[in-house]
Amino acid sequence: MSLELHKVLLVLSIANSALVRAALEVRIESVTKIFGDNETLFEFNFRLVGRQRLLNGTVIIHVDLDNEYDVSNDVLSLRNGEWESTNVAVNFKTCKYMALIYDRYFAVSFKDSNIPKSTEACPIKKGEYYARNVEVIADNWVQYTKLGLVRSILVVKKDNVVYGGIDVVLVLSQKIM
Ligand SMILES: *[C@@H]1O[C@H](CO)[C@@H](O)[C@H](O)[C@H]1NC(C)=O
Ligand SMILES: *[C@@H]1O[C@H](CO)[C@@H](O)[C@H](O)[C@H]1NC(C)=O
Repeated sequence: MSLELHKVLLVLSIANSALVRAALEVRIESVTKIFGDNETLFEFNFRLVGRQRLLNGTVIIHVDLDNEYDVSNDVLSLRNGEWESTNVAVNFKTCKYMALIYDRYFAVSFKDSNIPKSTEACPIKKGEYYARNVEVIADNWVQYTKLGLVRSILVVKKDNVVYGGIDVVLVLSQKIM
């Protein structure tokens, strides 16, 4: 085989695997509210609706969600029946979390929602926000995530005290293209 042909095949196979990996199918398995240690200032009231199991509900924020709070997001994956941590674990002040994580990886899924992007508003004013029929779009998570059962635990904390959060279990699989 000529070197040129070899190169072309190599490029094609890389492009091909990138294409396949570039699309993830997501099914939401469960969603659970995390209560605060003492009080729940940030209530994530979501449930799964319809046959498609879309995420639907409200986030009730009882005090302004500002940089006094940290938002941490850990991703675990199921290995041999146990939840194991992956290399995805972030912990940022609220506005940095919104800019670096929410805007980039989640906002695209929240099409029918008034949860502000960081560019629209941060801190997030106290109040009730909604998100309807959220279908998780995970196409830009591929380089971070594993396939199979994945659990994302988001918690709002201040001085290591938890004030609310949400625990979502997802099944990720490759989309057949
Ligand atoms: C939680 O409440 C208990 C009992 O009221 C109190 O002793 C503790 O300091 C509180 N913890 C935090 C982190 O607020
Ligand atoms: C979905 O959430 C919205 C906003 O909270 C709510 O008005 C609606 O009733 C919910 N739909 C279902 C099917 O639960």
